[in-house]
Amino acid sequence: MALYSEKVMDHFMHPRNVGVIDDASGVGEVGNAKCGDIMKIYLKIENDIIEDVKFETFGCGSAIASSSMATEMIMGKSIHEAMELTNKAVAEALDGLPAHKMHCSVLAEEAIKNALKDYFDKNNIPYDADKFQELDHDELHNAVHGE
Ligand code: FES
Repeated sequence: MALYSEKVMDHFMHPRNVGVIDDASGVGEVGNAKCGDIMKIYLKIENDIIEDVKFETFGCGSAIASSSMATEMIMGKSIHEAMELTNKAVAEALDGLPAHKMHCSVLAEEAIKNALKDYFDKNNIPYDADKFQELDHDELHNAVHGE
């Protein structure tokens, strides 16, 4: 079986929504200290709806495919729906990622959450801080590799 699904390859080779939104409502940037990859998400929000989303990812193919898929999944959705997006859902939408690449999809979830948090902060919108606790990369790594 191929290591990467056709969907992963497609989103890696032809990533959707790459770029920058100059007047973004919220921007989120995250990095993975272990691999050094960085992901930045820009959101344009109007009336609680994500009208536009773009990303820049300096990272591996799985991180690029995850960002591309994640942006497609939240485009046109409400900010509440975007808050619920999990890295697992992104990986599933890509027809799976190899176990040792699951952490790449975590960047997408975190970058979107950080961009939403930026939007909430800028607009003095109250939110539940618990929802923004950083996912623990080490814990995830150990869970995947059984260490
Ligand atoms: Fe760093 Fe994939 S290896 S995000």
